[in-house]
Amino acid sequence: MSPLGLSALRLLLVPALLCALHVSLCKAACAEVDSDTQAVAGQGFKLGCISCKRRGEVEATATVNWYFRPKGEHSYIHIYTYEEEVPSIMNDQFEDRLDWNGSKNTADIQDASIYILNVTFNDTGTYRCFFNRILSYPYYEFQTTASKVVHLSVVAKATRGLASIISEVMMYVSIIGLQLWLLVEMIYCYKKIAAAGDEALRQSAEEYLAIASESKDNCAGVQVAE
Ligand SMILES: *[C@@H]1O[C@H](CO)[C@@H](O)[C@H](O)[C@H]1NC(C)=O
Ligand SMILES: *[C@@H]1O[C@H](CO)[C@@H](O)[C@H](O)[C@H]1NC(C)=O
Ligand SMILES: *[C@@H]1O[C@H](CO)[C@@H](O)[C@H](O)[C@H]1NC(C)=O
Repeated sequence: MSPLGLSALRLLLVPALLCALHVSLCKAACAEVDSDTQAVAGQGFKLGCISCKRRGEVEATATVNWYFRPKGEHSYIHIYTYEEEVPSIMNDQFEDRLDWNGSKNTADIQDASIYILNVTFNDTGTYRCFFNRILSYPYYEFQTTASKVVHLSVVAKATRGLASIISEVMMYVSIIGLQLWLLVEMIYCYKKIAAAGDEALRQSAEEYLAIASESKDNCAGVQVAE
């Protein structure tokens, strides 16, 4: 096999082998997507918090804590803990309103998102999630921390502003206007083309006659020369 073919084969084989050896590596493609920041009162909202392990980092166990600083306050309160796959809500304001939305069935947490049920305006403020991660290397353990911040604002049920209604009406008006204009333009062009076609037909008939008579003359000339 050519060297190119070999390296191409290797390119294909290596990830395939890695997958076979370490299925979770391929399943758990991790991306640190930022959380949404606007919730609607009365509805649910997912507070996103993702901290990916770097490539090469080994199996780990993580515990997660969430803190909340209400808008206008100075200090954070501890609202949620997730440790060894056991969730606990730590604050009355959130009693029965927080659900785990992060990594499931593993202590190796990379997604620590939580879900707020029935968001209220009092949930407005700053949320902070903390990862406490212990990486298990063959002969030692290594502790890392990571944290993310989410500034949450809560809006009333998504009502449509006047501006949005006006812009929708304008959209229809401009669409209909454009189509009418297109129609007028098409009719105009059609008429123009039809007229030009008649003219061309007339002209080409005249030309044909002219050519025909000319060639008759030529032929006459040829005959004379013979
Ligand atoms: C997040 O939690 C909510 C409420 O328990 C649930 O309805 C939703 O399916 C969960 N989403 C994910 C991705 O786990
Ligand atoms: C949300 O709040 C309403 C009224 O306050 C209540 O009827 C409903 O059961 C709550 N839903 C959840 C999921 O807690
Ligand atoms: C929001 O907070 C205010 C002041 O602490 C309290 O009086 C009110 O009941 C709270 N509202 C909700 C929906 O929890």
